[in-house]
Order: sequence, then C-alpha cells, then structure tokens
Amino acid sequence: MTFLYMLLLLSALPLIKTASISPRKQAKSLVKWKGGFSFLSSSSPPSLLNSWSLTNLNSLCNWTAISCSKTRTVSKIDLSNMQILGTLSLFDFSSFPNLTHFNLSGNYFDEPIPSEIDQVTELQYLNLRDSSLSGTIPHQLSNLQKVRYMDLGLNYFIYADQDWSEFAGMPSLTYLAISTKDDNLYHSEFPEFISQCRNLTFLDLSQNNLNGQIPPSIGQLRKLQYLDLSYNSLDSSIPSELGLCTNLTHLSLASNKLDGELQLFLSNLNNLVELSLANNRIYGTIPPSIGQLRELQYLDLSYNSLNSSIPSELGLCTNLTHLSLSSNKLNGELPLSLSNLNNLIELRLDNNLFTGQILPSLVSNWIHMESLQLQSNELSGKIPTEVRNMGFLLTLNLRRNHLTGVIPQILGNLALLKLLDLSHNHLSGQIPSFVNTIFLRDFNFSYNNLTGRIPCVFQLAPENAFVGNSGLHGYVDSCVDSIPPRHNRNFKKDNNRVLIGILVPVCGLLMVTIVIGLMFRKKSSLVSNKVNTSENFEILESMILQEEVKFTFAEVVKAVDDFHEKHCIGAGGFGRVYKAELQSGQVIAVKRLNMSDSNDIPAINLHSFQNEIRTLTSIRHRNIIRLYGFCSRRGGCIFLLYEYLERGSLGKALYGVEGVNELVWATRVKIVQGLAHALSYLHHDCSPPIVHRDITVNNVLLESDFEVRLSDFGIARLLSTDSSNWTDIAGSFGYIAPELAYTMRVTDKCDVYSFGVVALEVMMGRHPGDMLESQLQESSKSRRDNVELLLKDLLDQRLEQPTNESAKAVVLVVTMALACVRTRPASRPTMLFTAQKLSAQTLPCLPEPFGMLTINKLMAL
Ligand SMILES: *[C@@H]1O[C@H](CO)[C@@H](O)[C@H](O)[C@H]1NC(C)=O
Ligand SMILES: *[C@@H]1O[C@H](CO)[C@@H](O)[C@H](O)[C@H]1NC(C)=O
Ligand SMILES: *[C@@H]1O[C@H](CO)[C@@H](O)[C@H](O)[C@H]1NC(C)=O
Ligand SMILES: *[C@@H]1O[C@H](CO)[C@@H](O)[C@H](O)[C@H]1NC(C)=O
Ligand SMILES: *[C@@H]1O[C@H](CO)[C@@H](O)[C@H](O)[C@H]1NC(C)=O
Ligand SMILES: *[C@@H]1O[C@H](CO)[C@@H](O)[C@H](O)[C@H]1NC(C)=O
Ligand SMILES: *[C@@H]1O[C@H](CO)[C@@H](O)[C@H](O)[C@H]1NC(C)=O
Ligand SMILES: *[C@@H]1O[C@H](CO)[C@@H](O)[C@H](O)[C@H]1NC(C)=O
Ligand SMILES: *[C@@H]1O[C@H](CO)[C@@H](O)[C@H](O)[C@H]1NC(C)=O
Repeated sequence: MTFLYMLLLLSALPLIKTASISPRKQAKSLVKWKGGFSFLSSSSPPSLLNSWSLTNLNSLCNWTAISCSKTRTVSKIDLSNMQILGTLSLFDFSSFPNLTHFNLSGNYFDEPIPSEIDQVTELQYLNLRDSSLSGTIPHQLSNLQKVRYMDLGLNYFIYADQDWSEFAGMPSLTYLAISTKDDNLYHSEFPEFISQCRNLTFLDLSQNNLNGQIPPSIGQLRKLQYLDLSYNSLDSSIPSELGLCTNLTHLSLASNKLDGELQLFLSNLNNLVELSLANNRIYGTIPPSIGQLRELQYLDLSYNSLNSSIPSELGLCTNLTHLSLSSNKLNGELPLSLSNLNNLIELRLDNNLFTGQILPSLVSNWIHMESLQLQSNELSGKIPTEVRNMGFLLTLNLRRNHLTGVIPQILGNLALLKLLDLSHNHLSGQIPSFVNTIFLRDFNFSYNNLTGRIPCVFQLAPENAFVGNSGLHGYVDSCVDSIPPRHNRNFKKDNNRVLIGILVPVCGLLMVTIVIGLMFRKKSSLVSNKVNTSENFEILESMILQEEVKFTFAEVVKAVDDFHEKHCIGAGGFGRVYKAELQSGQVIAVKRLNMSDSNDIPAINLHSFQNEIRTLTSIRHRNIIRLYGFCSRRGGCIFLLYEYLERGSLGKALYGVEGVNELVWATRVKIVQGLAHALSYLHHDCSPPIVHRDITVNNVLLESDFEVRLSDFGIARLLSTDSSNWTDIAGSFGYIAPELAYTMRVTDKCDVYSFGVVALEVMMGRHPGDMLESQLQESSKSRRDNVELLLKDLLDQRLEQPTNESAKAVVLVVTMALACVRTRPASRPTMLFTAQKLSAQTLPCLPEPFGMLTINKLMAL
C-alpha cells in the first residue's frame, strides 16, 4: 500500500513541477497582471491586448507582445510604448523562469521595482526606461547575472535610502543607464559596484543627484566607449584614471561641481568624438595636448574657470563641428590656426577676455558656420567682409566688444541670418540695406556710433534696437512706397495686397510647394506684383526646415557629395531627384530645381511666406508626401527636401522590372483608396481648396506597405473664390480632363478626372487611353463596342480574376473610376463622395455574376 502510494507520488512529482511553470500557468498569470491595466492613450487602446484572455489560454505564444522559446514558454515580453497604467507588483516573476527579454519602456508603473525581479534569472535584456518607476532601486536587481542590457533611465527613483553597497557587479552587463527625473533633495553616492561590471561599453548615470567623487576605480572599465555622468553634483577633481579608458568616444561630465585641471586625464583619450565638461569648476589652461584629440567633433568647455589662451594646437582638431569655450576667463588673441576648423557649424567664444582682431583669414574657411558667438570679449578692429563666406550663418553675435569701422554691406546678403547683434561696439557709418536677410528677426544696432537713416526693412523694429546712436535719424524717405516691410509683425493686417489676401487662409505644406510652383510659372496669374529680382536671387540663400527636422542642409549636401550623379535617382521636368542617406541613418529625397532660366521670380512671395512656412509644413496627411523643408542656394537652385519612399512611384510598381507580383487586387484597391483620401483632403478640407492638376501614376508614390503618398505639387493651384481660375494648359498628357482643352478653367473636377484615369490604369495594368478616347465620341460605333466590353477582359490579365470580397471591391473601384472620367465635369462625383464610397465598410453586392459584368452595366450604376 505504502509502496504504491509512494510510486504514485513519485510519478506525480514531475507533473507537479511542470504544472508550476506550464504555458497555461504563464498565460493565467499574464491575464491576472493585465487585470490591473488601464490604457492611457488612444493610439494604444485596451483592445491591443485582447489576445491576453482566459478564453485564449492555449495560444499563449501567439499573444500580442509575447514571444516563446522552443519549450513553448514565454521568453520575451515587449509592452514598450503602450502607455499602460499598471502595477508591477501583480506580475508574478516566479512564473517566468526562462524570460530573457522584458521591455516595459514607455509605460506608467507608479511604484518601486519589485525585489522579486531576481526570480527571472535568465533575463538578458531589461528595459524599464521612462516607466514612472519610483522609490529605491532594489539590490536584488544585481542578482540578474546574465543581464547584458539594463535601461532604468528617466524614472522617479528616490535616493533617500538608496544603498548601493549591497549591489553585486553584473559581469555580463554591457549597457547600463540609470537616471531619475525627480528633482528631489536626496543625494546618492556614486554606485561603486559599477566598476565590477568590466564588460560595460555604455554607461549613462546622468541626472541622478550623485554627489561625492567619481571613484578612480572607474578606470577599470577598459571597454567603456560611452560615459555620461552629466547633471549630478559630483564634486571631486576628475580622476586621472579616467584616462585609462582609452576606448572612450563619448564623455560628458557636464553640469557637476568638478574641479581640477584638464591635462591630467585628457592625454590618452585620443578616440574622443564628443567631450563635454561644461558647467563645472575646471581651471587652469587648455593644454596643447588637446590637439591630439583628432576625432573630436563636439567640444564643450563652457562655464568653467579656464584662464589661459587658446592653444594653437586646437586647430589640429579639424573634425570639430561644435566648439564652445564660452563663459571662462580665456584670453589672448584668437589663434589663426582655428581657421583650419572648416567643419565648424557652431563656435561659441563669448563671455571671455579675448583681445585682438577678427582677422579675415580666420573666418574665411568657416563655410559651414551656422552660429558664431563672440559677444562680451575685448575684440577690436573691423568686422571682416569675409563673413560673406558663411553662407549658412543663422546667428552672428558680436555684442559688447570694441569693434570699429562700418558694418559691411555684405552682412545684408546673408540670407539665412536670423539673429544679428552688433550693439555696444564703436561701429560707425550707415546701416546697410539688408535686402536679402529675409529671416532676420532679432537684431540690435544700439550703442554704436552709427549715422544716417535706418533702412526700410527695419520699419517696424522696436526703437531700442537703435538707441545710443546719436547720429541715426529716422527712416529713409522712400520707405513709404516700398514693398511691404519684411519685419511686419502684423503682417496679416496688410491683406489688401493681392497675394497676402489669397495666402492667409492657407492649407497644409502644399502652400510651400505652390510658392515654388509659382516661381517657375512665369505666367502665373496670381502674381500681379512681380518684381524683377534675378539679381537678388542669384545671391539668395535661404532655408526653411520643419521644426522637428534633425539634420542641417550642409549634412544633406555632404550626403549627396554635393549633388554627384551617383546619388541621382530620377529626373523630371523640373529638375533631378537625389537620394541622401544622412549620417543618422535617415534617408531623404532631395529634389533639385534649377532656376537659372527664370528671370522674373516673384521675390515678393519669398518675402511674404517665410513666416508662414513653418506652420504650413507641420500640417500633414498620411497620403500626402511629407516635405521637410526647402532651401535655395547661390546660383539659382532650389532644393525641396522630402521623405524618401523606398518603393518609388506607382508607375514603377505597375510597369517596373520587378513585375506585378505584389500588386494583388487588395493592394490595388488600397492604393486607389489612399489616392482618393489625399485628393478629398485637398479639395474639401483645405481652405481655399487646392487642385493638384498633375495626378498621374508617376506622381503617386508608395510606402513599403503600399500606403499612397501623393507628390509633385509643382503646378498645383489654389482655387481662390474671387480671382479667376483661368490657366494655361498644364498637366501630363493622357491624364488631363478633356474640358481643359476648350475652357482652360481649373476646377477640382479636373483632378477627379485624372483620378479616374489613374484608378482605371491601376485596375487594367495599362493606360485606359483607347477606352477613354472612344468614350469621347459620344455616339460613335466604337463607343457601343466599348460598352459591350466585359469587365473581366478589361482587368489586368497578369493577375488571377478577383473572387469574393476582392471581386466586389474591384467592381466598386471600376464603377467609381468610370463615373470620375465622365465627359461632363458636372456629372463627375466629388472626391469626398468618391473617397467615402471607396472606403465604405460593407461592399455592395454584385448585380450580376462577375464574369458577365459589362462596362456598360457599370457605367449605368
Ligand atoms: C498561432 O498563429 C499561427 C499563424 O498565425 C497559427 O498557425 C497557429 O495555429 C496559432 N497557434 C495557436 C495555438 O493559436
Ligand atoms: C524596447 O522598447 C524600446 C522602445 O520602444 C525600443 O526602442 C527597443 O528597441 C525595444 N527593445 C527590444 C529589445 O525590442
Ligand atoms: C527553460 O529553458 C531550459 C533550457 O532552454 C529548458 O530545459 C527548460 O525546460 C525551460 N523551462 C521552461 C519552464 O520552459
Ligand atoms: C565579457 O566580454 C567578453 C568579450 O566580449 C566575453 O567573452 C565574456 O564572456 C564577457 N563576460 C561575461 C561575464 O559576459
Ligand atoms: C577597444 O575596443 C576595441 C574594439 O571595439 C577592442 O578590440 C579593444 O579590445 C578595446 N580595448 C580595450 C582596452 O578593451
Ligand atoms: C574625421 O572624420 C572623418 C569622417 O567622419 C573620418 O574619416 C576621419 O577619420 C576623422 N578624423 C580625422 C583626424 O580626420
Ligand atoms: C590662472 O589662474 C590661476 C589661479 O587659478 C593663476 O595662478 C594663474 O596665474 C592664472 N593664469 C593666467 C594666465 O591668468
Ligand atoms: C563718432 O563718429 C564721429 C564722426 O562720425 C566722431 O567724431 C566721433 O569721435 C565718434 N565717436 C566715437 C565714440 O567713436
Ligand atoms: C538692444 O540692446 C540694448 C542694450 O543692451 C537693449 O536695451 C535693447 O532692449 C535691445 N533691443 C532689442 C530689440 O533687443
């Protein structure tokens, strides 16, 4: 009896063990955890985790956010960026012994990290970044000896009772980030255990209220490449042992209370690309050895107590793009060797004690410079005219120096300049006219020895921008009749001007492209107030990039090797298109438009629109191409920067060498739907409406998932209510509405027609030209032949005939397309109606079996 019992028990044991970690148990455990979730964002609705359900326990490995190992148990959980408000204490760590990846970043777990976390012993990847975690970080975390990547950044840890001494080193760790968003008063010592994590390559402990010293043992992290300890309260000197991490490429110790001198640790860090020690208490000299850091691109030593001169060796760091030494006590003359730094984009030497002149040969190579700040020094001499070489200059601040001489006329040609402060110098003579600085917003000429009259462009400037110049007397007389002042802050008040009146109620980024379009169309009727500015335009360099754009135009030019042919991916009527792969990995398309043949560019457009464009480019529609910005450049080129679409045009997809395998019926229907939505938006959601005028298969681009992006607004037109909408004929042969041949009147129905042509072409796999031509000859025999045509014979024969739902959708698309190509504009449906019909939830039933449907029948529907 006992024996049997024991046998039973023994045989049951493995069962019990398996049961404790069975997939079913894991599934139940996850459902329990989910029970405590609420979802904070409409973009990740609760339905996202619908698969996590007790009725679905057996398909755990198919659940959203879950991956399984070979043993069919959970190995990865990725709930990142779901904006879940939940609690980690309901998560049963013991149920997931084989979990390797746990990604909860971008959620709200408003509580400390549970100490049970060390039960997931197989964990290799832990991402709790930005998860609203609070409290003390449990030392059990460091029991996860297999973890390689641990990101605890951007949480709300409180270090009142934080004791790092109980933490063990995690030997496998290569990536570690800890930071707290909380501005609490509690400080923490530097976590010593970190120096035992010998495999670390990335360490970010910025913003942690760390105080005390950086332990010399940090020098044992010989593999470290990235070290960020910025925004703490570290107050030792910088340990020379830091110089033993010779693999360091990024080092930031900014915003601490570190003191000491530089040369002690710099000597070995020859791989540094980025070095920031800003806002500390570093004193003494900038050592000549800084010239050994040849890879440096970013150097920030600002807000310290350095009191030497700049060693000429700094000029050897020719990869520097950003250099800031501002707010120290640096002195002496600016070494001429700095002229070798011809990659500089930003140079800040302000608030020091520099003396001597700004020599012409110093600045002449700085062709990429966007921000030059030399204010609050003791510089004397003239402003060199070589500043003209800085074609991308946005900020020029020379305030509070001892500069003399006149303001060079050439400053007025720096088209991108937004800030110019020359106040508190001894400049004399007249203020130049500043004709081309169309973006200039912040300027200050006060407290100089300027004379004469103020140019009209500054008509509405605040008076205090000119005070302290006893020789300045009012505005030049001709101002009254001049073109609208560019710095007119009440720019909309001026709406009696034709252009502005039309352009205030603008819509979408399209306006920008329309502006460009107008520039090409010399005959455009919108521009009554044309100014011959070819001369000005030659030297105009301007740029507008969307707010969130992270690249500079200089980077774009570099990425395409200054528009080398090998980057050219297409050429069209208006210019060439280049593919630019930026250093960040982002890929964009650059359309280069050559303006050299156009002599009467309406400069007034540029002047009036620069203010609006930023707003315009921010409005988006998912079926319209994104314009990142535009630039113009010396020599008369305009560049449009667009998102790059891997698949290229619809035309290429339909007729390209790759064949049509991917263009199945459902995809084609989706493409037509997307195009309809784009046009519906232009016609019905924009005020005034916008007519694209050039809808063809080549101007419809495709995302990798075949989402449509309508592009090429080169000839798009606003439909204004008051002015006439007559036009020269424009568009692409084969897609132009027939009435344009007789009336030349632009209406939105022109686009409807072209849309119909494209929709038919997508379904037929060839241009429907013949069919449309016969349709025009209303009563002819060919029309009768045409209407007897069977739909199935019309469709792209390279594909199988559509069936079931596909068949219904195809019939709907062809029916709508046929309505859109009706000869009489008034009988064509609107794009709004068309878009709504095409995306209706339930498809209409077929009136006859698919194989018997004729075009005649569909035209009558
Ligand atoms: C998981 O999904 C795959 C395909 O998506 C399916 O073949 C499989 O049957 C599903 N498994 C379960 C258990 O539902
Ligand atoms: C974790 O989520 C973040 C944020 O979405 C993401 O960047 C990261 O790639 C994810 N990690 C893994 C291993 O999937
Ligand atoms: C965990 O993984 C090991 C090896 O990969 C495997 O032997 C074991 O069965 C797994 N455990 C579970 C509960 O899946
Ligand atoms: C540390 O890195 C080395 C080289 O990548 C690797 O061989 C070793 O296994 C790592 N150590 C641990 C504990 O992961
Ligand atoms: C520095 O990095 C290289 C490659 O990343 C590696 O081969 C080398 O061992 C590293 N140096 C040290 C001291 O770890
Ligand atoms: C500078 O940067 C370039 C390209 O980024 C790189 O090839 C080069 O090695 C760097 N270093 C020096 C000293 O030029
Ligand atoms: C720089 O400051 C130190 C004291 O911090 C002083 O001893 C030294 O003379 C100063 N050097 C110069 C060039 O002003
Ligand atoms: C200002 O200019 C006038 C002549 O234009 C000159 O007489 C005067 O000395 C100058 N004043 C200063 C402070 O430079
Ligand atoms: C120009 O500088 C003066 C003197 O510093 C200042 O009072 C004035 O407000 C500034 N004006 C503008 C428009 O910045």
